[in-house]
Amino acid sequence: MDSFEWLQGYTIGFGLHHVDFTNPNRPRTPKYSAHFFSQVVKDNGFPKPDDDKMLYGHFRKDFIWSTATASYQIEGGWRADGKGLSIWDKFAHTPLRVLNDDDGDVACDSYNKVEEDVAMLRQLKVTHYRFSISWSRVLPDGTTKHINEAGLNYYHRLVDALLAANIQPHITLFHWDLPQALQDIKGWENETIIDRFRDYADLIFSRLGHKVKFWITINEPYNVANIGHGYGAAAPGISFRPGTLPYIVGHNLLKAHAEAWHLYNDTYRAKQKGIISITINSDWSEPRNPYKQEDIDAAKRVVQFYIGWFAHPVFNGDYSNMMKTIIRERSLAAGLPKSRLPEFSPEEIKRIKGTYDYFGFNHYTTVLAFPVDYGKLQHYDADRRILNFIKEEYGNPPIIITENGMSGRGPIDLNDIYRSYYYEQYINQALKANLLDGVDIRGYTAWSLMDNLEWATGFSERFGLFYVNRSDPELSRVAKSSVAAYSTIINCNGFPDPASGPHECLSPVPEGTSAPITDDTVKFLGMNLSTSDAETGLNTTFALLVVAVLGAIGSSVCFFRARNRSK
Ligand code: FCB
Repeated sequence: MDSFEWLQGYTIGFGLHHVDFTNPNRPRTPKYSAHFFSQVVKDNGFPKPDDDKMLYGHFRKDFIWSTATASYQIEGGWRADGKGLSIWDKFAHTPLRVLNDDDGDVACDSYNKVEEDVAMLRQLKVTHYRFSISWSRVLPDGTTKHINEAGLNYYHRLVDALLAANIQPHITLFHWDLPQALQDIKGWENETIIDRFRDYADLIFSRLGHKVKFWITINEPYNVANIGHGYGAAAPGISFRPGTLPYIVGHNLLKAHAEAWHLYNDTYRAKQKGIISITINSDWSEPRNPYKQEDIDAAKRVVQFYIGWFAHPVFNGDYSNMMKTIIRERSLAAGLPKSRLPEFSPEEIKRIKGTYDYFGFNHYTTVLAFPVDYGKLQHYDADRRILNFIKEEYGNPPIIITENGMSGRGPIDLNDIYRSYYYEQYINQALKANLLDGVDIRGYTAWSLMDNLEWATGFSERFGLFYVNRSDPELSRVAKSSVAAYSTIINCNGFPDPASGPHECLSPVPEGTSAPITDDTVKFLGMNLSTSDAETGLNTTFALLVVAVLGAIGSSVCFFRARNRSK
């Protein structure tokens, strides 16, 4: 128990039990560590809980097996063929914004390497490839006043090469690289952006929509709003109104998404027969001490301020009551005349609600929450709870995991066992969510196809299945060992039970070969889609670790999105 700690007196407590030294009766209360330690004693060690055991089984036949990238992170060609500048060009060219002053001028040179990129995808045997379009490559000043056909042509070449390899393109319209010309008139803070985004989406649907069935309007609005306009650790790098600007930006992001969705729904869907949604990111949050009500409440707040900020308006209508109440109370207490969180009109609530065809979900980590302004780094293994939360909270929508992965830093190790382990664990957790909990999981996307410019951490943080050799002028791509691990899961569409083996799908697939292209069609969300690879394997889940720093932003326990997901 806590006791007299020599020179520190009663100021620090080493105890499994807390002792209240202000109370003459010296009452003892068990801390979480006491419960934990008593379990260890009871189990005489650490038996594997059921939840950690591998579940054998497979995903639905038409499961989407994918991997992802984003334009600024891989394309390079920052001035090629009339491309306009984006906020990331400007941010990365500003000293000290990106680690080692790395920039995306050349990145992985994907602008000139369509063939090489598609070869990697074939080797993985993915059924889909998620990539984003650089808005300013296509519309140099962000508006349709001038369409840069040469830039658009790159996406035609890429989409055609993917389809020829029987890989379905899954296109993100906006993955953070806003045209600088639009930022010059206040970017996402200015509500005219809603029409600009709609015009841009219109152009892309009209030009590429006959070949593309899978769309994402906006990637991670949470990060755009909070990291870009609150912390300022991503472009446009604004941090001087952290409690106000992110909410204004978030409001416009939601409206812009809804307009693009309605445009597709009203004008293109009948003919092009695709599906379109927004991709929302969130960590899961657990109470640091599950026996303490304050920590339980803090964990709930983290989730509502993170996933809920954008998911609640899109799936349930309007911001959650929790968000509205907490922000209003804090705003008024600070002497402001009204809440820092803007309000939607009843018509706007209706217009935004239901603008989804699936729940696009990016997930990396779990954090431990507690009600203070600063918490130290926590390490925690993740699980399938957040998938269940989505099912319960947002009406059991079909879910496509649009990103999940793990990074490495330091010396290159092509034998990335930790990454293979992470993918296996995570994908297996997704399988459990699907088979045991009935969560409607339709697809899984590994972040990332190859090492690339990891935003403010530059090229030093590497998420790739493939290594990109930056000392080779050709920027050659080399498979890490996780390529074989992931493609085996794909090939088996999950995890076959060894007891019913041997399983052919487990044998390594000879490099460079790929399944013959056929005209088979599969059903997805009521559409017939052609994916001859649909029966190849796959599988999923969740896992591991990581870390986060809790911080107070603008409201209660909103928190800092720690981007340290490295091993
Ligand atoms: C996500 C981003 C993606 C990549 C991964 C690691 O937040 O959407 O571009 O940086 O994190």
